[in-house]
Amino acid sequence: MRQNVPLLSFLLSLSLTLLLFTGCDTESEERSVGYSIPEQPEMPTGYNPKPGWETSEFAVAAANPLATDAGYQIIRAGGSAVDAAIAVQMVLTLVEPQSSGIGGGAFLMAWDGSEVHAYNGRETAPAAADENHFLDEDGDPIPFRDAVRSGLSVGVPGTIAMLKQAHERHGTLDWADLFEPAIILAEEGFSISPRLHMLLDGDEALRNDEIARALYYDENGDAHPVGYNLQNPALAQILRNVAEEGVDAFYTGATPEDIVARITSHERPGNMTVEDIENYPNQEFATEAMCNDWRSYRICGFPPPSSGHIAIMQMLGIMEHLEAPEVAFSDSIPTAEWLHQYLESAKLAFADRNQYVADPNFVEAPAGDWHSLMDPDYLATRAELIGETSMGSADPGNPADVLSHYGVMQEQPDKGTSHVSIIDKDGNSVSMTMTIESGWGSRIMSDGGTGLPGGFHLNNELTDMSLSPMDDDGNPIANRVEPNKRPRSSMSPTLIFDGETHDLVASVGSPGGAAIIHYTAKAIVGMLDWGLNAQEAIDVPNFANFNGPSALEEDRFPADLIQALEAMGHEIDTRALTSGLQAIQVTETGFFGGADPRREGVVMGD
Ligand code: GLY
Repeated sequence: MRQNVPLLSFLLSLSLTLLLFTGCDTESEERSVGYSIPEQPEMPTGYNPKPGWETSEFAVAAANPLATDAGYQIIRAGGSAVDAAIAVQMVLTLVEPQSSGIGGGAFLMAWDGSEVHAYNGRETAPAAADENHFLDEDGDPIPFRDAVRSGLSVGVPGTIAMLKQAHERHGTLDWADLFEPAIILAEEGFSISPRLHMLLDGDEALRNDEIARALYYDENGDAHPVGYNLQNPALAQILRNVAEEGVDAFYTGATPEDIVARITSHERPGNMTVEDIENYPNQEFATEAMCNDWRSYRICGFPPPSSGHIAIMQMLGIMEHLEAPEVAFSDSIPTAEWLHQYLESAKLAFADRNQYVADPNFVEAPAGDWHSLMDPDYLATRAELIGETSMGSADPGNPADVLSHYGVMQEQPDKGTSHVSIIDKDGNSVSMTMTIESGWGSRIMSDGGTGLPGGFHLNNELTDMSLSPMDDDGNPIANRVEPNKRPRSSMSPTLIFDGETHDLVASVGSPGGAAIIHYTAKAIVGMLDWGLNAQEAIDVPNFANFNGPSALEEDRFPADLIQALEAMGHEIDTRALTSGLQAIQVTETGFFGGADPRREGVVMGD
């Protein structure tokens, strides 16, 4: 069966939404993968319960049904998990353009049955960028919103070059085959989903970009409606070139020239050069995954420049030193006692994150080893700071007794990003989180120099760096802008293994800015500690703390729980916490996948 959908209610909602979405011609001509466009509905934006999907041979979980389906068809055609991830990313560039794409970056974790490989496709700052990058003529940081919507925020795109290298090592199908779904969909068009429409409608700045205005809006400036068949000829041409010629088609010639022209001609211009883009692919993208033991599991995640894995393992590790609450999880939500411990641990983890974590090519780890931040003795000292009432906010710690000369970076908002989890027929797995940073990135598009309508979005990844190079006392911020540096990230693609047998247990990750760390931690704890399946773990109401007030997902926690936390001194802010978790668990009979009811993702497999 193509997809296992056990709940009647879900089938009903699918059939209702199917009425909105007509598929295009499904015939493929002489195509090597034989890709055919599926008749796929889109989940409307809002909270739409999802059933969880049981499969026996393989599973693909991505943020959009068309992207999931591309991965599904690639694996059916003999592709590996990495092959499928590449096809998914190319389709997401088209159908979930607000979140990730070829104009952005990605972290890919790949399990090949014996080793975890990590590939770092993070964007870099231009060679001409320096720590004054985001400062005005008076030496003050420009407003964050202006920094995002500018040529200054664009980092050199990393996704295609990184995926090419991963494909050379883990691919089974030809590189060109992986582009077939996205090229066909870009040429023939796809139905604008409710979520895409809502995000287009709500973004005023995107209309200021001439390519975006012509692609997404009518002559009155209204976003094309739900169900509109959106074609993107420029993207189809760019992807065709990359499929046929490899990374050179993106990193040399007309494409970098167009990217640079759009950045440098912006009213707030950036200083990226064609050479910055040409130089990007000439590097080794593989880096060492970080693997740490927790309970009877081994949890592997991405090292710096991501702060995600370190923060997750710090939070889980700190809580191991606290007396576990009698009841941690009840009535499908965590208890106030457990949340108190988690939120306090989060403050400690975020304090360290903001002090220490940045691009390791520029910043030394405390005591020369990032694992010092997760050392059990260090975490025991951090746990001692947690009492029965809220600490308010935390100061950074002092791992390995090394005094840091760095200042503390202030939290900066971000919201974009997408995640894909895959397990293929050989049991190999991918966990990849990819991003253009904010929703719609820098609000600058490039047509890749094709001169055709459409194109792709340029990221605003450099606003993941501190706009201020120094703190108020004049100490340098570790994550300040420097030439060719990668911005710190929160992306947390995670692969979980049995600590003894080293068998794969699950693949998980999420979008959501700095809250990615909390969403991913919630899913890990839900699956491993609370005995939930992937879907149930994803469904658990979201909670977060960034070293200040705590955030709880609005309308999902009862008033008495909020009052109990407030009685412990917590400042509680309820708000939408729109995770986009995808997770696949290994089960006795195959796999169980979950996709976030807060976004459009689905799981498919045989
Ligand atoms: N742009 C999201 C992140 O890298 O954390």
